[in-house]
Amino acid sequence: MMTSLTLRPAGREDPRATLAASARSLGGDRAGEAAFFSRLGWRFGSISALALSLYGESGGSELLARLVRLLHEDHAARPPELKAIDAAREGSGPWYLKPGLAAYMVYLDRFAGDLAGFRQRLPWLEELGIDMVHLMPFFRSHEGNSDGGYAVRDYLGVDPRYGDAAGLSCLAQELHGKGMHLAADLVLNHSSDDHAWAMAAKAGDEKYRNYYYIFPDRELPDRYEAAMPEVFPETAPGNFTYIRELGAWAMTVFHDFQWDLNWSNPEVFLDMLHVLLGMANMGIDLIRLDAVPYLWKRAGTSCQNLEEAHLIVRLLKACADVVAPGVAFLAEAIVQPREIVRYLDAGGIAGEARVEECQLAYHASLMALLWEALATRKTALLASTFGGETRLPPGTAWLSYARCHDDIGLGYDDAKIREAGYAPGPHKRFLLDFYSGRYPGSFATGRLFMENPATGDARISGSCASLCGLEAALSGDGATPEGARALELALRRIELLYGLVSSLVGIPMVFSGDELAAVNDYSFEGEEGRSDDNRWMHRARLDWDAAARISEKGSVEARIYGAIRGYLGKRRTIAAFAQDAAFRVLASGSENVLLVLRSPKAEMERRVAVAANFAPEERAFPLEALGPGFGPLPYDLLAGRQATVLGGGVVLGAYGIAWLSEA
Ligand code: GLC
Repeated sequence: MMTSLTLRPAGREDPRATLAASARSLGGDRAGEAAFFSRLGWRFGSISALALSLYGESGGSELLARLVRLLHEDHAARPPELKAIDAAREGSGPWYLKPGLAAYMVYLDRFAGDLAGFRQRLPWLEELGIDMVHLMPFFRSHEGNSDGGYAVRDYLGVDPRYGDAAGLSCLAQELHGKGMHLAADLVLNHSSDDHAWAMAAKAGDEKYRNYYYIFPDRELPDRYEAAMPEVFPETAPGNFTYIRELGAWAMTVFHDFQWDLNWSNPEVFLDMLHVLLGMANMGIDLIRLDAVPYLWKRAGTSCQNLEEAHLIVRLLKACADVVAPGVAFLAEAIVQPREIVRYLDAGGIAGEARVEECQLAYHASLMALLWEALATRKTALLASTFGGETRLPPGTAWLSYARCHDDIGLGYDDAKIREAGYAPGPHKRFLLDFYSGRYPGSFATGRLFMENPATGDARISGSCASLCGLEAALSGDGATPEGARALELALRRIELLYGLVSSLVGIPMVFSGDELAAVNDYSFEGEEGRSDDNRWMHRARLDWDAAARISEKGSVEARIYGAIRGYLGKRRTIAAFAQDAAFRVLASGSENVLLVLRSPKAEMERRVAVAANFAPEERAFPLEALGPGFGPLPYDLLAGRQATVLGGGVVLGAYGIAWLSEA
């Protein structure tokens, strides 16, 4: 097997005896070994409790013994420079809470060809103000359509088109040398159907058949289907696929070539833990847990967010804490807002800043709310939902974003929609029509993704710039006053979204291409394996000719690049935007204006109010809305001058955003 473990066969072992035996065999790296065993001692209670509660019936103590051995082996394989980083990180606060941290999500091939090319392009990211890079999947993946690399064929084998493992480690080292960080995907819910495990299963190997959910007939699949939603109803309807070679049905929640891994099998856990630690040993600092809500399946449930999925993540984290304590987890949980936060559960003993599960999660609800406010021009739903959010546990943070490689799911809380004066169904329909350009007068150029006629549901594809109206504006006549205004408003919408992503909460993430206001790219329509997946239209190939225009005064690129670079640069200097700063939505008195007060933890630092106008015309809000402390002429940190105050109202231009500092 390409990536399976080389563990000795499981015998009747006592984990504590294994531990003691391992301790006796201390190798050359005595300090490293001592640190390992001290961390193991610290986490062993959690590891054994979690492993036993998940896998107790499948031979708990044997499993634990193998698990401890695996941790020891993977720790032995951890390069010394990474151990040194671990030691440094243990002595300081969490690296991902560093003030001003900003992330960038990027496809290697679409940005710079391969790993070597990427290293040459690093100055682009440094200049922009990025300190964490999320490289989209780069391990060997399914032949033909690979779902953008999310159908992994070889979990630790770097795709030769991008380079090799040594090249990846070199990149990690270079990033670390610059004080930057590397994030990558662990696609843990499913493997591709040409992964060695799936191939072995197809060849009749019982062991690997048990790595997946495989059913001889439709009885259980039908029971599952009754309660499971569909992820790709248009192109991959249903959650099961009949596999001829198996003569049976495999669970395939995503595409038919992505077989769901059976995490109730402890062998899957051990192999995937080894994969995770292998990624950590390549120098990856942040592991993005792809599709994490789907990890555990139980017939009769939606098979999302089940308690066991959380336990698995906790067990993975406890194990990672022993081998690679500086490594953090990012939850990709695009689910109901109240479910997302459960992946960030601190879980530790009261007062202890230990995070038991994920440290970061995408703020998918904020992202969807921003797009809602842009379409409706009204901030009620955004203000009430965002304002009602509880603060995250210490040691965790949101990853805030406007766009990523995926579609925009319009996930809102129905009760809040009603409170804001809308009916959930028609409101969703309006947003879908608006962003697919069907709504009369809409500025957006996007498309519906995965329309499901049975439920009326769909999501949205399109680049940030196109959804903000830039594509439509550029196709119009810029020489006319209307054309010039359309262009100006489109640019302001992009600025507004990125300005908010950089200031409302969390760590901002730039999706590659957005810094140049890249519009939709329709070339996917002619590409094999991509033509039926319109998410490719917003996965930009970075246009380096356009990039050269950032120094051309008056160009679209100069404007948007300058704005985003400005946001990221300025926020570094603002204590009120630190991860532990509080936020509170203030009543702005205008249905179009969002007003959020950010208060730094240290009281002597200044508070900053973020004011954002979602209307295409000027709006004002009363100065008193800010409360005392801002003085008669608050200073706008973004504009670098005092805000305009007229007749007691703070004026914001069309789609204007201001970061107003306390006097
Ligand atoms: C995640 C990825 C998405 C992919 C899916 C299946 O949601 O972000 O692009 O299609 O997982 O792996």
